[in-house]
Amino acid sequence: MKISWDKPDIGQKEISAAVDSLKFGVGAKGKNINELELEFQEKLGCKHAILVNNGTSALIAANLAMKNKYPQFNTIGVPSFTFIASLFASRMSFNDYRLLDCSPSNWNIEPEHRSKEADLTMLVDVGGVPCDYDSFLADNGVYIGDSAESLGSKYKGRIVGSQLPIHTFSFQRSKIITCGEGGLLAVNDDELAEDIRAIVNHGYARDKRDFEYIHNKFGLNFRMCDVEAAILKVQLSKLDVYLNRRLEIANYYRANLTEDFAVQEIPQYAESNYFFFGVLVDPTKRDQIALHLENLGVSVKCWKAIHQQKSVNTFNLPNAELISNSNILLPIHNSLSDTEVEYIVNACNQF
Ligand SMILES: Cc1ncc(COP(=O)(O)O)c(C=O)c1O
Repeated sequence: MKISWDKPDIGQKEISAAVDSLKFGVGAKGKNINELELEFQEKLGCKHAILVNNGTSALIAANLAMKNKYPQFNTIGVPSFTFIASLFASRMSFNDYRLLDCSPSNWNIEPEHRSKEADLTMLVDVGGVPCDYDSFLADNGVYIGDSAESLGSKYKGRIVGSQLPIHTFSFQRSKIITCGEGGLLAVNDDELAEDIRAIVNHGYARDKRDFEYIHNKFGLNFRMCDVEAAILKVQLSKLDVYLNRRLEIANYYRANLTEDFAVQEIPQYAESNYFFFGVLVDPTKRDQIALHLENLGVSVKCWKAIHQQKSVNTFNLPNAELISNSNILLPIHNSLSDTEVEYIVNACNQF
């Protein structure tokens, strides 16, 4: 048995859509980009949906726009238990950062973990579990949502994307839906959206004529190309099927893993898309268990908190440290069969 941690589900419909796009609209000006942005706007209930080339670019653009809006801001707070892009993408905009601790049960940042020294805070929906947005917004602070992992998750019954001024998403190959590489900004503030449209397209003035080169602002090229949008459109139409299958697998894991595997808690207010299925085990045995699973053909991941990386400053964050040293992320994706899921559970419990 060989079970991969992720497996993009690209079928004939995606292939045909990609070929059609190549025939009609090479580059970023094809019709799929506009159509897909409108579809995302409707699906997420956000004011503006802006497609970009990956989730890191989406975050960079979000941070640049926040810096334009609040030029006096210098320090950003970022949770330590997340993928490193959450931090690195802010380094172009903000001189300084504070890494933040998280809840030991749901692994997300909570209001008590904020830093007084941070001018704005990034809320990361770890593993697809939405942060408790309302409890943050109550203080009128400034927040960016790194929702790279939470497409399709729900916060208080509403799909993630309309709650914060900006949510960013990723369509990299392991995500719920994918086009290989891709990203999206769901923006709920007109001024920020206008600025982001320029930031992701060389700072071009929007009202310029086609033949002109007018760049009123700083900007880069983060455009998605039409072929990717064509593939993603098909993937978006399958989102609900993918979410149902992930939920089925998660429920099986929950019901059948022994209590040695403490599952990441889903708060009452949330429905997770189960981007990953994370468990905590005895940290002194974690690497042995991961190797045992790998030896049985089950690919797993063990996330390492950012503050433990050599590339960043040190911080004392006990909860993030414990989760970092104890976590195992089990395979969960649409293509896993029931037999494979049973096999994974048996392999875990056997240890
Ligand atoms: C939390 C988080 N933020 C940002 C990113 C970056 O997205 P991308 O790989 O599309 O650049 C990812 C995933 O890859 C992620 O998991």
